Amino acid sequence: MANVRVAVRVRPLSQRETKEGGRIIVEIDGKVAKIRNLKVDSRSDGFGDTREKVVAFGFDYCYWSVNPEDPQYASQDVVFQDLGTEVLNGAAKGYNICLFAYGQTGSGKTYTMLGTPASVGLTPRICEGERMCPAAILL
Ligand SMILES: Nc1ncnc2c1ncn2[C@@H]1O[C@H](COP(=O)(O)OP(=O)(O)OP(=O)(O)O)[C@@H](O)[C@H]1O
Ligand SMILES: [Mg+2]
Repeated sequence: MANVRVAVRVRPLSQRETKEGGRIIVEIDGKVAKIRNLKVDSRSDGFGDTREKVVAFGFDYCYWSVNPEDPQYASQDVVFQDLGTEVLNGAAKGYNICLFAYGQTGSGKTYTMLGTPASVGLTPRICEGERMCPAAILL
């Protein structure tokens, strides 16, 4: 497996985004994130328009974190089980590991990396690795 992994996470719309009529244009299908171009989609005179309606990007992990009721909902724990335990396992084997979040402002980096007291994110979970995931650091 490659020694770099890339994950993408879709967050819910904010109240403001919802109020302003925002719509989620990303779909997760396994390890593929599909982005729909609404401008192309909604054109009635689309004839001859060669732009793609949907573009797909592959990732090592794709997380749908929009609605907790959804069966494919990825909680903070799901993200930790994939990414956090890998960090702990690798660190225990002596590897130098770097985990970082990249994305535009408001996209959910702090929520994923730090979280909230009610929804603890990756970094505190990794720091509590011994308690959260004893097997990982005993390896
Ligand atoms: N997976 C998620 N589930 C629920 N709410 C989320 C999720 N991700 C982000 N949010 C909410 O979206 C808002 C923006 O997220 P956040 O502050 O983490 O963005 P950011 O990428 O750190 O932005 P900035 O670059 O400005 O620091 C916050 O109110 C946060 O609670
Ligand atoms: Mg932030």
